[in-house]
Parts: sequence; structure tokens; C-alpha cells
Amino acid sequence: MQTLLLVFQELFYEAIKQSYPHAKIQHDLVEIMQSASEKFGHYQCNSAMKLSKLLQQPPRAIAQAILQSLHLQNEFKEIIDKVEIAGPGFINVFIRSTYLSLRLNKMLRGVKFDLSLPMHQERIIVDFSSPNIAKEMHVGHLRSTIIGDAICRLFEFYGDTVLRINHIGDWGTAFGMLIAYMKQAVPKVLEEKQECTSDQLLQWYKAAKKKFDDEEDFKKQSHQEVVALQSGDPKNLKIWEMICKISQKAYQEIYDLLDIKIQDFGESFYNPMLKPLIHDLDVKGLIKISDGAKCIFIEGFKNREGETLPLIVQKSDGGFTYDTTDLAALRYRVEVQKADRVIYITDQGQGNHFSMIFKASQAAGYVDPDKTRLDFAGFGLVLGADGKKFRTRSGGTEKLLDLIHAAVTQAKKIIQERTPDLSSKEQEAQAMVLGVNAIKYADLSCNRHHDYVFSYEKMLRFEGNTATFLLYAYVRILGIKRRLKFSMDDLKVNEIILSHPSEIDLGLHLCRFAETLEQVTQNLLPSYLTDYLYVLAEKFNAFFRDCRVEGSDEEASRLLLCDLTGRVLQQGLELLGLKVLERM
Ligand code: ARG
Repeated sequence: MQTLLLVFQELFYEAIKQSYPHAKIQHDLVEIMQSASEKFGHYQCNSAMKLSKLLQQPPRAIAQAILQSLHLQNEFKEIIDKVEIAGPGFINVFIRSTYLSLRLNKMLRGVKFDLSLPMHQERIIVDFSSPNIAKEMHVGHLRSTIIGDAICRLFEFYGDTVLRINHIGDWGTAFGMLIAYMKQAVPKVLEEKQECTSDQLLQWYKAAKKKFDDEEDFKKQSHQEVVALQSGDPKNLKIWEMICKISQKAYQEIYDLLDIKIQDFGESFYNPMLKPLIHDLDVKGLIKISDGAKCIFIEGFKNREGETLPLIVQKSDGGFTYDTTDLAALRYRVEVQKADRVIYITDQGQGNHFSMIFKASQAAGYVDPDKTRLDFAGFGLVLGADGKKFRTRSGGTEKLLDLIHAAVTQAKKIIQERTPDLSSKEQEAQAMVLGVNAIKYADLSCNRHHDYVFSYEKMLRFEGNTATFLLYAYVRILGIKRRLKFSMDDLKVNEIILSHPSEIDLGLHLCRFAETLEQVTQNLLPSYLTDYLYVLAEKFNAFFRDCRVEGSDEEASRLLLCDLTGRVLQQGLELLGLKVLERM
């Protein structure tokens, strides 16, 4: 089943072509939108305004002509209840409730709601989370992890092959510093006679950094250690591996807690590809030397002084950079991993970096923009209650774990108050779900371009646009189904028939699930899905307030509507990486 939006796009496209058989009508002239308010119908066609220039006619006359042809379309009677022209030439469409019912009945019984999402079957690489070894994993990485996972889940639902990639910062000069420091300060750890945590690692990293900045000798030594590491010195390699393992164990704890699957392809993975990359860029004439460094200058990226900014692909001391690795990684993703689309999820601050990487990769012929789509999905900051950048106290991975546990603890308090008779084990399990859901949803429901304020109190509320509110609507529906003894047989013998306005309203919104998902695959804004689900829960509550289910003449149909709402809610939450409960 096509999305509702597409149905109207096709219908209007045909009608416009018939009205103006001699004009060249392109698909993009057909502009259909969901109406902003019920008064203006359900969908609105704005093409008359767009066509006015092309056809040299006033938009209202064009709208008239389109309406006439629209009435001649075969599907008109089945789908449309009423059309009217408004304002300068908008065409407002009111859908027949019988048509909505028909679609809902298909959704009820179809695989994946019979959305027949234009099953993409592409190879999509999502580069997300990507913390840096030994340095702090901060809330920005948490945000990337949560948004990235939701985006992966959506494409997986569409049937795409998704590669979830952790571009861990596990290479570079920082390691020389750390190795030099650890050799001096904690030799016992290096001999593996002493366990150590990622928090300790962070402390050593900080101490090493200070020494590096203060002591010329130490700086020199650090450089030697990097050179040794990069040329394969076995001892340094072993230390490096050890450091990576400690950090990875800490990340893994967070991923497990959040139920995130991701595969490591750290920066070090691309190391062997860097030299050949520079050679290739050189041969293609893209490299210019500036202050002894090998650079690629890309038009359009300027600093404050108006000078064109370079990507530095090799420093004057011969070392490679973040830029070099990203170029190599993108090349690998397209040439070897055969990606049809590559999506990067980091804070907005890296937007320029990726735009430049995309441009340079195209210039070098690594990416053909007609074949591979590149997206940078940037996000805003996480703020504390004081409006300043949110910081966990010491900033380490451990502290990020504490942050998630704190949400779970708060959730537990709320559950103890609301359902004191639940066993403590039950309470524990529910708190885990509510706490983690709350953290994820608070992040996802905020448009990712914006900053958001981290607040346990707000994210755990039962009212408003929160995970718990949605979950509560879901649990309520399960309760209704249990009470009315809903079974799969109901699906065989009954049908949804919409009659009451609140019921039609809910039905229409359910019909819009597919186009919402479709939108998110394009704009990569999970907040569109959270908004959709929030409105769904509200419309369900309005329906349940206005329409009697139990014991009414419409019981059978309304029970199906409840079931479908529950399943769409559940599916939506799952796509966001949230879990549901059976009772609460
Ligand atoms: N490690 C980086 C950071 O912490 C993020 C990496 C993003 N991905 C990439 N391909 N550069 O900022």
C-alpha cells in the first residue's frame, strides 16, 4: 500500500496532466502537504501557485481546471469526500472515512502494517557513537549513540543492509604521550600485574597531557613512542592494545545498558590506507604544500580572515590527521564496503569538517554523488539546568554510566510510589526500562539541530511528550485488550469502521505512520517520529474519552482500532530503541 501522501501526489499528477495535456508537467510541480488544520481538510495541494508562472494563468483558474479533471479520475469517488479551493488557489482535500477504514483494515493484517515501504534494499553505513580511547566519553557521544541507533533501526526496518560503525579514536599522537607516561608512572600495569579502569586511564591521560605541554623532554619522548608504535614496535603495540581494551570494555557496558549494537572500525583500521591515499591525491593534483604540510584547499570554506581553509592530509612532520583518516575511511566505505549512503552523526561543530571531506572525496573521484548519498546529521549541545554545557563531574565513561543509573534510580522511586505492591524484582525491571527509555526519548524528541536541557525530573514525567506518557498509553491499550479478551480471531471476522470524529481523527493519524517514517529516512530527524507518536497517544486518549468501546454497538471495530494503535505505538517505540512493558 502506498503512503497516503503518495496516493494524492499521483492523483493530482494525473489530474494536472489531463488539464494541461500540452504543458510539460514534472512530478516536482505537484506539491501535496498535510493540512495544518482540520478546517483546511486533510491534505492540501499547492500546485496551482507553482503552475501559475509556467502557464501564465491566475492560480485560481488553474485550481478550477485541476478540480474538474480530479473529478474524472477513477479513484476520486473511493478516496475523496470533498474538495474545495481556498485562498489564492490552494486545493483542500477531505478524505472519505470509508477509504481510511479500508487502509486501516489493510494495516491491521499486513506484514509490517502493509506499509509496503518502498523497500530500499540499499547498503547504508551509519558512523555514530565513536568515542576516543583513553579520553572521556561524554554526553555528546551519548547523544550520537542514541540518535545513531534510532536511525539504524529505521533503515533496518525498511530492509536495508545497515553497517553500524564505531569510528573510535584509537590512533594518533595521544597514544605516544600515554605510552611514555605509563612506562614511567605505572610500569606494573604494563606488566599486567595490576588491573585498571577506564577512569584511571583518563587520569593518566590528563597527567600525560600536562607533562607533554610542560616538559620538552617528555614531548620528545612521546613523539618517539608514536613513531615506534606506528612502525610496529611490538612492546608499544601491546601497550596500545591494552589501553584500547580497557576503554572498549567501558564503552561496552554503556552499549549493553542501552541495548546498542555497533561494530568497531576505529581510526587505526585505516592506517595502512593512508600512505597510498596521499600518493593518489598527489597524482590527481589535489595536494598543495602550505607551511610544509600537504593540504587540500576547497573553495567555499573560509576562516574569519577570509582565507580558504585546507584539509590537512599530512603534517610537516609526516604525521597523518583526523582529516586523512576520514578521507581514507570514506573511500573504503564506498569502494570496498559498497555503501549507497553514508551517514555521519556527530555534534554540529564538525559540520564543516564533513562538508570538506565530502567535497574532497568527490574531487578525488572516490564518491560519485549520483551513486552515493552522503549525509551529515549534526546535533546540538546537551545543556545542564544552568543552561551551560552539561558535564558529568569528572567526565569519564564511568560517570556516563552513573548518569544512566541515576535515571534508573529515579524511575525506581517513582514506581515504588505508584505501585508499592509490585515485587521489588518487578520494580527493578520496570525501573530499568523506564529509566533508559527516558534518557533516550528526551534526546530523540528534541529536534537534533537544537540544544537540549538534560533534566531527570522532566524526562521521567508521566504527562507531556515523554517516553513514560507513550508507554502508559500503550499499557492502557493492552489492558483494554485483555479485558475485552481480544484474540487473533477478531482480526479474521471483524473490520474497522470509522464513524465518530475522534475516531476518524485517530484513524487518519494511524494512516500517516508510513509517511512519517518515510520523512525520517530523508531528514534523519527522529523527533518527527517522536512527535508523531506523541500525537498518536493524544489522539488515542481523545478517542477513548469520546467513544465508548466496551459494550457499545461499535465494540468490535473499536477494539481493532485499539489493537492497531497499540501495535503502531509499540513499533514506533522499537524504532527509537525504546522498550515496552506489559503492565505498569
Ligand atoms: N571521535 C570523534 C569525536 O569524538 C568522532 C568521530 C566521528 N566520525 C568520523 N568518521 N570522524 O569527536
